[in-house]
Amino acid sequence: MDLFEYQAKELFAEYGVPIPRGKVAASAAEARQIAEEFAAGNAGAKPLVVIKAQVKTGGRGKAGGVKLADTPDEAEDKAAAILGMDIKGHTVHTVLVAEDTDIAQEYYLSFLVDRAERTFLSMCSVEGGVEIEEVARTHPEALAKIPVSPLTGVDRAKALEIVRAGGLPVEAQEGAAQLAERLWAVFTDEDATLVEVNPLVYTGDGRVVALDAKVTLDDNAAFRQEWGSFADPAAVDPLEARAKARHLNYVKLDGAVGIIGNGAGLVMSTLDVVAYAGEEFGGVRPANFLDIGGGASAEVMANGLDIVLSDPSVRSVLVNVFGGITSCDAVANGIVSAMALLADRGEPVRHPIVVRLDGNNAAQGRAILAEANLPLVEQVATMDDAARRAAELAAAAVNGA
Ligand SMILES: Nc1ncnc2c1ncn2[C@@H]1O[C@H](COP(=O)(O)OP(=O)(O)OP(=O)(O)O)[C@@H](O)[C@H]1O
Ligand SMILES: [Mg+2]
Repeated sequence: MDLFEYQAKELFAEYGVPIPRGKVAASAAEARQIAEEFAAGNAGAKPLVVIKAQVKTGGRGKAGGVKLADTPDEAEDKAAAILGMDIKGHTVHTVLVAEDTDIAQEYYLSFLVDRAERTFLSMCSVEGGVEIEEVARTHPEALAKIPVSPLTGVDRAKALEIVRAGGLPVEAQEGAAQLAERLWAVFTDEDATLVEVNPLVYTGDGRVVALDAKVTLDDNAAFRQEWGSFADPAAVDPLEARAKARHLNYVKLDGAVGIIGNGAGLVMSTLDVVAYAGEEFGGVRPANFLDIGGGASAEVMANGLDIVLSDPSVRSVLVNVFGGITSCDAVANGIVSAMALLADRGEPVRHPIVVRLDGNNAAQGRAILAEANLPLVEQVATMDDAARRAAELAAAAVNGA
């Protein structure tokens, strides 16, 4: 999960990472109020505040999403201009109104997971700011990469090694090292996969401050963290949210064939096979990824069918199960009870379901389905043929609609 800058800075503040004072505004009037508050404690210095678009993408500054304002009036105008803006497909719903910082120099500092090297990595550069990508491309030697051992982490000595490797001047090293140590605490204690500060700023009065903040949290650690306040319901697909609440591995896609399978590998290849078969029928494609996992019960199957069929773009469903730990009779029972359950709820299944069962207890599973004699359920013996049939049925429904 990516955080907004203001959320990342809330975390920074908890860990003592210095940041400029700032508050979030959802309207231009609110932005003005915040600027007035800051003006009260500021002896008329200019600029007064900086108005920053809160979107989960980079390059906001270059897109016109970061603007300075000298007065509360100007803060209101600039916020009005930034709110509603589209930055790389992200609409700006809020702005951060932050106190202006007297910038002497801009650096770059980050911690991340280095998957290739199976360790942590710190990156640091004296040439920070909005051109950091350009620096990394044209003279990568200016961006120091320092491996960090998960066993020893970042103490003051390691932090000094990092900021010196980045080429930070002597006067900024102590402050930057202290900040780096605290940033490391954010990174590890919060289970982040990335914390990035660009720019890290050396101020006119000799302080080192995080002017921007980017944090990516590892969703796999959500169970042991308290990230509730970071949830961004507007950004989550409602079907994906429902699936998650039922512990299903579901990803919404944009086609018309609902897919249910067991095991991520099998489901991935089912997506490919359906997309390939769909070419023949005018480009019919998979509507989702859904892995019901190993040892799936009838209830899991019912939940899966319910989610997939709730997607209005779905016109046919392909259930592709290779029974290993999961036995095909459990899957077949799941399909039968899911159909009954949905009918009871007043949402009877209206789309054809193509089922391919193979592996553990396949014969029993096929017999259960045959006996249930469900008019919308059709059994096909092989994966390729099942994919082709599901694509054909979806195409017929789309064209008939
Ligand atoms: N509080 C502040 N006071 C003064 N100047 C600021 C402040 N915040 C940002 N700036 C200036 O605006 C520039 C861009 O800000 P920032 O780094 O937050 O956005 P960005 O880098 O364009 O966005 P992104 O990080 O999404 O690419 C900074 O490099 C800095 O020069
Ligand atoms: Mg930045």
